[in-house]
Amino acid sequence: MKIARFSRIGFILAAAGSAVGLGNIWKFPYITGENGGGAFVFVYLITVLMIGFTLMIAEMLIGYMGRRDSVTNFETLAPRQKSRWKYGGYIGITGLIIMIFYSPVIGWTLHFVLLSFSSLPSSVEIAQKSFTSFISIDLWSQIFYHTLVFIFVTTVVTRGIKGGIEKLNFILMPVLIVTISAMFLYALSLNGFSQAWDFMFAPDWSKLTSASLVTAVGHAFFTLSVGMATIMTYSASLPKESNLVRSSLIVIALDTGIALIAGLTLFTFLYEYGATPSAGPGLVFISLPTVFYEMGFLGHLFSFVFFVALASAGLTSAVSLIEPMVQYLIDRFSYSRLKASLSSGLFFYVFGLVAILSISEEYGSMLTFGSKNFFDWADFITASVMLPIGGLIMSIFVGYVMEKERVASHLKAQLGAVYPLWYFSLRYIVPVALFVVILNLVGLLKL
Ligand code: PFF
Repeated sequence: MKIARFSRIGFILAAAGSAVGLGNIWKFPYITGENGGGAFVFVYLITVLMIGFTLMIAEMLIGYMGRRDSVTNFETLAPRQKSRWKYGGYIGITGLIIMIFYSPVIGWTLHFVLLSFSSLPSSVEIAQKSFTSFISIDLWSQIFYHTLVFIFVTTVVTRGIKGGIEKLNFILMPVLIVTISAMFLYALSLNGFSQAWDFMFAPDWSKLTSASLVTAVGHAFFTLSVGMATIMTYSASLPKESNLVRSSLIVIALDTGIALIAGLTLFTFLYEYGATPSAGPGLVFISLPTVFYEMGFLGHLFSFVFFVALASAGLTSAVSLIEPMVQYLIDRFSYSRLKASLSSGLFFYVFGLVAILSISEEYGSMLTFGSKNFFDWADFITASVMLPIGGLIMSIFVGYVMEKERVASHLKAQLGAVYPLWYFSLRYIVPVALFVVILNLVGLLKL
């Protein structure tokens, strides 16, 4: 059977489409706001460069050499047959769990695309009320949007790597880049820009707590899509003779660039109209719409453009989140693509419904376990627990388990003089940093 592969540019767009998501435009600005700005951004950038870059190359290498689903890749690349390392491949399930909360949030963005055409909220109180009632009372609307996301994502993935995923990214990535850049250019002309710049790039070290350190590291993973076999699954369909290092650098540059541009644009708008950057998860759904209201007619246009960008970013990441499981079901259980996509889609659809109920007024208490509701658990377990563990597994696998010569034969020429540094980082810096994050998480270590 002939396997459809990405084109070179198709792969870069798809990997960047996976990386650039709600994490960049929704999450990054609000966690930067919550964690005091500059110092947090600094830690995030260092982590992206030191840990993210090292791991993305390692993850791409596993996919590129293995050429199959994540479980099979770990199995065939381990030096001994029947190695337990195949269990490392099960980190591919993380994406489906992320989709449990990611799909409802994409649904919110679709709702806000439509709201752009109606009256925008004239005060933070009104915006807060309407957003809260939307997510906690208006269950049917949320279920409707979640269903749309399910149908869309499943249909795209059913069409495969070339006809579905690559095509979607060819359309939505330019939309995203053009819309975000247009808003950024407008932001550049406003007075609030210099305040936004200072907030993001002038570090106030006193604001950096141990909790924000861990958040920054966790977010670096989440935003780059490393540590959960997404990039690995995509790179299994790379054309022969691809340059993994160059691809990683482009994806990281796009992901980081778009996060910084989105952050600067948002904070400029917020400062310009007297809103605060520390509003938490409601930043783009509560504070921003009131800013759009202040802008008058232009605000409706900006609101539309912004939420289209956000939805596009979310959808290109969503397809990448379910693809590892789809590939696994096809490779290991001989499912047809249709059956594999439908079963993966149904998984996140059903649990996504539970997540929606868990943030509702009516059913919330029934679906709250300990300190968090089901929705927040899905977020916490994936972004804070599974991604660092996935990253740790990969760094140990490529750094210690795979044969040194095989790793070198693929990467030495591409990395040149940086190769020893990369290998050192993979064997020592990355695992130690991740181990510290994990220990801190389970409470064994208080940073
Ligand atoms: N990187 C995406 C974002 O920033 O929204 C989310 C994501 C996609 C995480 C794919 C992990 C992943 F494998």
